[in-house]
Amino acid sequence: MSWIEFWDGKPPIYANARHEAAHYRQIAEDIVANLPGPGCHVLDYGCGAALSADRVADACAQLTLCDASANVRQALTAHFGKRSDIGILAPEQIAAALPDRSLDLIVANSVIQYLPAEDLRKALILWRTKLADGGRLLIADVVPPGQSPVADAAALLKFAAANGFFLAACTGLVKTYFSDYRKLRSSLGFQVFDERDMIALLSAGGFAARRHFPNLGHNSDRMAFMAMHAAPTVTIGAVSTLNGAFAQQNRSAQEG
Ligand SMILES: C[S@@+](CC[C@H](N)C(=O)[O-])C[C@H]1O[C@@H](n2cnc3c(N)ncnc32)[C@H](O)[C@@H]1O
Repeated sequence: MSWIEFWDGKPPIYANARHEAAHYRQIAEDIVANLPGPGCHVLDYGCGAALSADRVADACAQLTLCDASANVRQALTAHFGKRSDIGILAPEQIAAALPDRSLDLIVANSVIQYLPAEDLRKALILWRTKLADGGRLLIADVVPPGQSPVADAAALLKFAAANGFFLAACTGLVKTYFSDYRKLRSSLGFQVFDERDMIALLSAGGFAARRHFPNLGHNSDRMAFMAMHAAPTVTIGAVSTLNGAFAQQNRSAQEG
């Protein structure tokens, strides 16, 4: 089994419907908080069920939902297919369907941990091609090495208590412990990154990147990164900086 087959099989990773709804509501609110403006074009890559995607679409000009799972896309179409401002695509359709440099924000939340290294490298190339000048790539819910399962469970239980599914979450944690998900993490691989490696990876992919706070979703121990097209080397006096697009953008903002 691959990770894509796992997600295609509608895995029971949520404790109940209330958990799933609260999760996607939170993710949508967090994406909205990161929108550059109401006229922006957004890609949510590896969006999953995206139950509250309408909230994101209401706050931007065009939202594209992309997921590798055919079953997920079918559910998205049933849910949002009538909205002309929400597009639904498979990953392999993105290259032809979206114009280059057309996206103001690309979000990949809780996705890169499931991508083999070569797929992540290809995704970075695709995202860079589609990102507009000044557009932003937000990679979030990145799992650092050695993250404690106890800390993960504690973060989930806190979120559950605040959203009325505490008991279901307790049962869900026990089920997850004995589930395929845990076994697949060890058999298929589950990518973890520390902050420095993630910045280096993005830099090698042609992005200027930095850690971004807060992470999307309920788990603040996981990490988010904001990245832009790296600008060509800028020379200030004798000092050459390739802090890239962020430095460039800060200067433009001051001049503007
Ligand atoms: C953990 S879920 C995250 C869903 C959503 N982004 C969220 O924050 O809840 C991972 C999702 O990534 C999708 N996915 C896995 N590999 C993918 C790939 N190569 N391209 C696009 N989506 C992928 C899966 O189908 C699944 O829906």
